[in-house]
Amino acid sequence: MDRSALPETAFLAPDGANRAAVEALFAQASNLLLDLAGGAAARPPLRLDGRFVDAEIPQRPRPEGEILGGLRELLEDAMNPAHPGYIGHMDSLPSTFSVIGAMAAAAANNNLLSLEMSPSLSRLEVALMRQLAKLFGLPAGAGGVMASGGSLANLLALGVARNRAFDVAESGLCGQSAAPLLFASEAAHGSLQKAAMVLGLGRAAVVAVKSPRDRLCPRALAVAIAAARDDGKAPFAVVATAGTTVTGAIDPLAEIAAVAGEAGLWLHVDAAYGGALIFSRRERHRLAGIDLADSVTFNPQKWLYVAKSCALCLFRRRDDLEQGFRSPQPYMADAGGFTNLGELGPQGTRSAEVLKLWLTLQHFGHSGIAALVEGGQDLAARFRDGLARRPTVEICDAGDSNLVCFRPRDAADSVVASLQAELLRRGFFLSQPPYRGRRWLRIVALNPYCAAAEVAAFFAALDASL
Ligand SMILES: Cc1ncc(COP(=O)(O)O)c(C=O)c1O
Repeated sequence: MDRSALPETAFLAPDGANRAAVEALFAQASNLLLDLAGGAAARPPLRLDGRFVDAEIPQRPRPEGEILGGLRELLEDAMNPAHPGYIGHMDSLPSTFSVIGAMAAAAANNNLLSLEMSPSLSRLEVALMRQLAKLFGLPAGAGGVMASGGSLANLLALGVARNRAFDVAESGLCGQSAAPLLFASEAAHGSLQKAAMVLGLGRAAVVAVKSPRDRLCPRALAVAIAAARDDGKAPFAVVATAGTTVTGAIDPLAEIAAVAGEAGLWLHVDAAYGGALIFSRRERHRLAGIDLADSVTFNPQKWLYVAKSCALCLFRRRDDLEQGFRSPQPYMADAGGFTNLGELGPQGTRSAEVLKLWLTLQHFGHSGIAALVEGGQDLAARFRDGLARRPTVEICDAGDSNLVCFRPRDAADSVVASLQAELLRRGFFLSQPPYRGRRWLRIVALNPYCAAAEVAAFFAALDASL
């Protein structure tokens, strides 16, 4: 092919002929990223006055320097989770090795769709899912697949649960006389409604069960299931949450498992956030009962510091996934006894997200992750203590994980919004979720560079802003 219309560094030649030029480009690009990441503390955690970047497609190749200049501007205006005052969302700064993993996945450009297109990486994903299933206490025969985000992982789990309960994978839901229902706490993530919509159940199929302090009440669950059955409905699944999105609450998993088991329903645990606690001996008791789940969602892109996106769904019996979801793709080569991963999840073509996770786990080890998770819990305790000492603020906090919400007592939502803006001006980025009819300020205490000095500075900023 004639490549003369392309820049010299368009691709790296397989014989390395232009390696020096590509190496120089990589050096510039990595210097740019290191400048930005290494200078994160000097930029605000969030810029509200971002510049507009021209998205016009040029007629001819642009000089590399110009392109990198544009990239620098864009990233200077990006959200900056590495800033020590960034305590606003479940999104962390990325582990170094997950950045390397993202580069490696792009460089290899394999496709997790099939074994043929990713022989070593498909096998790595299967093996790592088995290891994680074991860590969550799931029995031999457990395993799973990765997905681009927790919403897709929840969709997959509920799809398998639905197909297993109603045998509708072939003929669909039309022949179903009783309406399928699933049960979750009032504080469960909105991806469940999305999944119910996509699965043809409708959003109203998600029954929100009474959840004092955001924890699904097992007794109320049992009553709701019985009432639905009396009403001619067809309950098929219970979703427990381990780490709700606003207050980090963890449902009583073992008790919920008992109710789901008694009722013969599938138990899915959405541990997208709180799943990380399993790595800490000190903290994992909070997940007691997760080993009883039929399926588990876990997002290492949150509290495990893996660069986005990185999520997964584990199944107690990997066979459930094979039988309840597998959709053979006739254009893909037969992989012998190995099921192509593209047949097992909602996605087809998929990047090797597993590399980011695998490399981070190798680099941190159990001990490193435990230190981060416990550090997050301890940091949240510092924030909680400081807030509790301020009678002018009201706290809303489940106390299970490292999320703490607060608001000025008796204040209008507009005051909460102004306080968020003022704290941001002083270098602290908190989110402001609407929750139970009012707006709150939320701290997600997972930033490894937020320590005692930053907590003290935060309270000084808060006192000056209230
Ligand atoms: C409890 C819970 N489940 C699911 C999700 C959805 O994950 P994602 O945004 O990766 O799709 C989230 C996201 O915050 C969450 O907090």
